[in-house]
Parts: sequence; structure tokens; C-alpha cells
Amino acid sequence: MQSLLLYFDDERAAALRLAAACGLAAAAIERHRFPDDELRLRLPLDGAARLPEQLVIYRGLDHPNERLVELLLLAGEARALGARRLLLVSPYLAYMRQDIAFNPGEVVSQRIIGRFLAEHFDALITVDPHLHRVASLNEAVPLADAVTLSGAPALAELIARQRPQAVLIGPDAESVQWIEVAAGSHGFAHGVCQKVRHGDRDVSIELPDMPLAGRQVVLLDDIASSGRTLAQACRQLLAAGASSVDVAVTHALFAGDALETIRAAGVDQVWSTDCIAHPSNAVHMAPYLAAALKPLLR
Ligand code: R5P
Repeated sequence: MQSLLLYFDDERAAALRLAAACGLAAAAIERHRFPDDELRLRLPLDGAARLPEQLVIYRGLDHPNERLVELLLLAGEARALGARRLLLVSPYLAYMRQDIAFNPGEVVSQRIIGRFLAEHFDALITVDPHLHRVASLNEAVPLADAVTLSGAPALAELIARQRPQAVLIGPDAESVQWIEVAAGSHGFAHGVCQKVRHGDRDVSIELPDMPLAGRQVVLLDDIASSGRTLAQACRQLLAAGASSVDVAVTHALFAGDALETIRAAGVDQVWSTDCIAHPSNAVHMAPYLAAALKPLLR
């Protein structure tokens, strides 16, 4: 099959790294925003005004409400223009956290968005999706080819270079999976906090019972959103005597004043993968994404 990787200009760098790692041609999707916020997309056609049969769409789903509409517009038109196989590489997958109705009538967003993606795409590759109560990605996105990667191995390598003596701390119980991967490959001392969330920007944290005085600590987590989890953990680590606290996250959402909040709490370095384009990006996921994508290409 003739193949092409399509990307949007705001993810150009990471998309081109993936295209290069897979030996794929790549082209940008033009996007125009009308005064009322509607979008017009324009796909790059060949001389016969068609698209190749196989398209890799690179689109992370931070800013999810807008980007899900992009995917809806794009997938429908791509098939009309000749694409037969659409592979979505979405390094950050949104709407995965609401996986049950916590209160009667609440929409289970994970199920709805998962089905939407499965209806429009033939395969999905993502990184550290926030899955709490489902064991595998294809329970949330019912596709035979729904591939989950993790940012933890690449972040662990970075931490090993930057802070070889670090204590790795996960800010909550869910982070144990990434802490164990990172600590297992590099032998870091490690521990996991207990977190109780009281609201979107309000968490309390209990540190693990381990020696922290004088230690360089790196907080490792999948997502920094409001930054409150990392900020609260950092304050308590410094109060417990840690000599420094740095942060490594897969998904640098950093919504609103998140960065200022964690800096004010005393965080020194902030490192992230390029799953979401952000000034803190220190790790490229292209080699990992390429290794997952190549076997799916026909
Ligand atoms: C939660 O379980 C996640 O792993 C993150 O800790 C959480 O999403 C971070 O959110 P925030 O930055 O808003 O505290």
C-alpha cells in the first residue's frame, strides 16, 4: 500500500521525527479557523486528486474538544478521497479518566470517545493512557490493533543521566507502574505516595515511609494537568528534607498556572516526553512509536 503520514503544523517536529524513523513520506494538513471558531481542513492530494490508500494520522488529543472534531472531519473525508486504512498515532489520548459514572447520569466519556475512535480508525497507538479500571486499551477503544506504549523507560534513561543517585517517587498509587519500570531498569531507590483528591485543584498527599533527608528526588508521573499533585508532593518532600525535587512526566498538559504552581512549590527541573509539545520536552518518543507502527503498516 502507498502510505503517507499526515500531521498538523503544531505537532510538526514530533510527527516528522516519527515519519523519518519509519521511512514514511509526510505532509501537513492545512487548517483554517473561521471567525466563529469552525475549522476548515485541507488534505494534501496527489496529482489525481486522491490520497494514498494507507494514512498514518499523527494527532495528540490534548485540547481534546477541538482535536476530536478535527479527527471526525479528517477521517470522513480521507476515506472519500481514497484512503482505505487509517492508523491513528495519538501520543496523548484524552477522555480516558471518566471510565465509570461516579454519580447517576454522568456520561462515561471513555466509552463514548473510545467507540468514536474505533469507528473511524483501523489502528491506534498511544502512550500511557490514563486507564484506571480497565486492564487494556482495547477495552476502552475496541480495536484489534490498539497499542499502548509507556514514556517511563525513556524518562528513566534521562533521569539516570541527569540524576544517577535520585530517589524516584510516584505521587499516587497509580504511578507505581511507571515507578517500577523506571526503578527496575536503573536500580533507583523508590517509593510511592498515597493521594486523596478533594477537587480538580485540591489534593492531599502522604509520603512513603523512607529516608528522604538530603536526597535528590525525582517525581515521576504520567500526567501533569493542574500541577497540584506534583506541587503538593514537592512541598512535602522538601519539608521532609529532600535536597532537590525535579519532575519527569509523560504528558506535559500543564493547564493554566500549573507550571508557576509547581515552580512556586520548589520544583527545580521539569522534564517531559514530546507526547505533548511543550518547552519541557526532553525525551523523543519517535523510536518507540516507530517500533510499534512499523508492524502495523501494510
Ligand atoms: C492521576 O491519577 C494522574 O496520574 C495524575 O497524578 C493527575 O492527573 C495529575 O493531575 P493534576 O496535575 O491536576 O494534579
